[in-house]
Amino acid sequence: MKSVAVLISGRGSNLQSLIDAAGDSYRIILVVSNVEGAAGLDKARAAGIATAVIPHIGKTREAFDAEIDAALRAEGAELVVLAGFMRILSDGFVRGWEGKLINIHPSLLPAYRGTRVHERVIEAKEALSGASVHFVVPELDAGPVIAQISVPVHPSDTPQTLADRVLAVEHQLYPEALTMLASDKVKLENGLAVFG
Ligand code: GRF
Repeated sequence: MKSVAVLISGRGSNLQSLIDAAGDSYRIILVVSNVEGAAGLDKARAAGIATAVIPHIGKTREAFDAEIDAALRAEGAELVVLAGFMRILSDGFVRGWEGKLINIHPSLLPAYRGTRVHERVIEAKEALSGASVHFVVPELDAGPVIAQISVPVHPSDTPQTLADRVLAVEHQLYPEALTMLASDKVKLENGLAVFG
């Protein structure tokens, strides 16, 4: 049973799916938000999970990351899950949690790293999009992929309808990927996701 901390900045729908799926392989022991009043904090509290608000405003990236790191270690987190956490983490933080830090991104990585994903997917007239769970490495959205799931892109899609379709499968994918990591079915080795 791995102790998991989740970092959020907003609504926390992925957090909710992770809470709902917690069981034999992991339990969520802490939810940290950099935004006070983030809706995900209420979801954590409703589930009886400890929460912390650590604002980033007025701090250097390194000072902010050091505060987060201290909170995670004080609670005994073994794995750290980014779920709509809208800050880029410093190289030092990422290295300190190497192989234990994952993120979900709403595209079929390595395609469409970064922001405005659904707009760009529609502009490019892609037939498929999806979501990817990946190990976090210092380069943004560039870490080895643990699991992916695809959805069709319809000609009538707007960024919002596509985002909604992708989000629905994120909620299925993220708990599955975290369960794999927590039960040692995947690990980061020499910069690769190694399964088995
Ligand atoms: C999701 O689309 C996720 O892929 C992206 O941020 C969004 C977070 O949504 N990284 P929520 O806060 O989990 O509802």
